[in-house]
Amino acid sequence: MSDRYCVIGNPIAHSKSPLIHAAFAAATGQDLQYERCLAPLEGFETTVRDLIKQGYRGANVTVPFKLEAARLATRLGPRAQAAGAVNTLIFADGEIVGDNTDGPGLVADIVRNAGVPLGGKRILLLGAGGAARGALLPLLSEDPRQIVIANRTLATAEQLVADFAAHADRLAATGFGDVDGSFDVVINATSASLAADVPPVAPSVFGPGVLALDMMYGNEPTVFMDFAASHGAGVRDGLGMLVEQAAEAFLLWRGVRPETGAVLAAMRQAG
Ligand code: ATR
Repeated sequence: MSDRYCVIGNPIAHSKSPLIHAAFAAATGQDLQYERCLAPLEGFETTVRDLIKQGYRGANVTVPFKLEAARLATRLGPRAQAAGAVNTLIFADGEIVGDNTDGPGLVADIVRNAGVPLGGKRILLLGAGGAARGALLPLLSEDPRQIVIANRTLATAEQLVADFAAHADRLAATGFGDVDGSFDVVINATSASLAADVPPVAPSVFGPGVLALDMMYGNEPTVFMDFAASHGAGVRDGLGMLVEQAAEAFLLWRGVRPETGAVLAAMRQAG
């Protein structure tokens, strides 16, 4: 029987992960099945224990269970520890190992797919919630000159900087209205796009030569992408990050990192 994996969330019907992992399995010749798994809002732990009983080898975790997954894991990798959240679980030898591939997926999309190296660059990270926290360590690993974290609630951005005190010389926290200077890359890690909102930073942040990436994606560009593009920035949605985080999870489970280019192109065409 094929090895079984799934993505656990609520809701989950919209998830593209089964398509992505099926394409990876076909491309790498790996024998596995990957499904969607709807967990009740109060039933994440029961769902995971049930999957383990059924012999599943691992799972991805999405909204709203990433923090709970970190608590449930018996062991956390350093990326999950830094993020305080888990998007990938590995079930092996009686352990529930938690990792987080969202941040590495973001970095891979920027560096490999968009072709924008981050070494020595100035990055503006919008948001200070779970998505921003998960991105921070992988972004820092690329050795940028500075990462400015701007958030609606300044105290949350300041807390995030305090939590990464070892990197304090390269981090700064600010409110949206006080963002200044120019940036090479602007990353929207807020959930504002869900409400068709744009974080209110000065339009001058988005000049030509700037890459503006929204972690969200949909069939249409997000309002953030439209705003950034109208002020001259190059824009990208979160689909590449989604495919890259999946490739990193596939690597953890199967020991092989699939090629992502063809899968990303096919997902874009499918809409
Ligand atoms: P996630 O796991 O997606 O990061 P989260 O931890 O709830 O979700 O964090 C949401 C982030 O989006 C926060 O930075 C939040 O700002 P606050 O800390 O001020 O709440 C930000 N956010 C949500 N809605 C927003 C909006 N309409 N405009 C700007 N920022 C918003």
